[in-house]
Amino acid sequence: MAASKLTFNFLLLNFLASLRIPEISLCDRSRQPKRHVAMFIFGDSIFDAGNNNYINLSVSDRANYWPYGETFFHFPTGRFTDGRLIVDFIATKIGQPFVPPYLQPGINFTNGVNFASAGAGVFPDTDPGVITLGMQLSNFKNVAISTEEQIGDKEAKKLLSQAVYATSVGANDYSYFVDNYPNATQLERDEFVNNMVGNVTDFVKELYNFGARKFAILNVGPRGCQPAVRQSEELRGDGCEEVSLQMIKKHNSATSKAIKELESKLSGFKYSILDFYTILLDMIKHPKDYGFKESSYSCCGYGMYNAAHWGIEQYTLCKNPSEYLFFDGWHPTEHGYRILADLFWNDKSSIAAPYNLRQLFDLESTPIILSEEYEVPHYE
Ligand SMILES: *[C@@H]1O[C@H](CO)[C@@H](O)[C@H](O)[C@H]1NC(C)=O
Ligand SMILES: *[C@@H]1O[C@H](CO)[C@@H](O)[C@H](O)[C@H]1NC(C)=O
Ligand SMILES: *[C@@H]1O[C@H](CO)[C@@H](O)[C@H](O)[C@H]1NC(C)=O
Ligand SMILES: *[C@@H]1O[C@H](CO)[C@@H](O)[C@H](O)[C@H]1NC(C)=O
Repeated sequence: MAASKLTFNFLLLNFLASLRIPEISLCDRSRQPKRHVAMFIFGDSIFDAGNNNYINLSVSDRANYWPYGETFFHFPTGRFTDGRLIVDFIATKIGQPFVPPYLQPGINFTNGVNFASAGAGVFPDTDPGVITLGMQLSNFKNVAISTEEQIGDKEAKKLLSQAVYATSVGANDYSYFVDNYPNATQLERDEFVNNMVGNVTDFVKELYNFGARKFAILNVGPRGCQPAVRQSEELRGDGCEEVSLQMIKKHNSATSKAIKELESKLSGFKYSILDFYTILLDMIKHPKDYGFKESSYSCCGYGMYNAAHWGIEQYTLCKNPSEYLFFDGWHPTEHGYRILADLFWNDKSSIAAPYNLRQLFDLESTPIILSEEYEVPHYE
């Protein structure tokens, strides 16, 4: 009895130790996780690395034309920026190649898959032509099943539970809502936010039920302060479109609460919420603090803030995109994404919480394996 209790405590301690955040040396920035960790990526144009190149869409949902891609790849890849995305920088930090788009022919799933599709929303109505979040989820399920077939049930479970699941979604839904329901009542706006948060939470739960354990969730950015919106609303000074900002603020705080609740209910559930809203707004308001010369005007486009550009119209292109926070009216430049990726990776405050991405990738995630490999002792 005493002996078995001791064994139990010993096992428990080992188990708890395996859950603790590994110690991280402050000066060793290049350190990479010891283990191979795949990344599964979902959401919209912030993360889309080229899926929309493979579907029949209008030019506004695509970035497969010059000058997208001009600085790093030197050709348009489908990424809505001049170079790499946040998820590309993160892949490099963990010592892996860029995670390939799901629709790219002949991809290998072992490093993960990028399911994101520019224009995608939580609700299919937001942009029915692209790969909606629900379709991205069923594409992921297909990948999970075929991974099991290829490497076996046990290895697949290990890969899926160690993987990090990154999501950026919501901004397009709020654009859709404020564009289509300009006269909505406060009650209708609140109801929309509640449905959004409920559906995002359901999406995360679905992934969990398929073996996902580690989530990196980009919250919704300050849409109303981005150059495309300020231009279409003809806002001057530091004016922002307030209706969507208010809705998004509610969305972000309710999502944080809901995800925290999931953590307390679901065994082994770990997450990082990346506060894209706060940090992007700060970058917009204080560009010089981040090394930018310009955060009101986009690098590429036309109009009041050089913020409209759908590939076919005339546009002006800045000489040095790294001086600009925004490449087009909606999307940060590669330089902006690099700073964001570094913050999400290393941040010790509330910008990436409760874990930053480095800690999230390093976390040992074993609940599924545990139940298979360890005989849980019995006690009276
Ligand atoms: C692509 O979509 C356009 C507009 O919806 C349509 O006219 C065209 O036939 C489609 N092309 C293909 C190859 O499906
Ligand atoms: C996928 O890549 C991994 C490592 O990069 C390699 O070991 C594996 O054989 C590849 N699988 C296929 C089906 O090509
Ligand atoms: C919203 O209200 C304004 C004026 O109150 C009206 O002109 C407009 O048509 C309304 N828009 C919609 C979509 O109902
Ligand atoms: C998801 O959104 C729909 C509306 O599109 C709503 O009816 C449903 O209740 C939402 N789900 C949750 C869990 O909130």
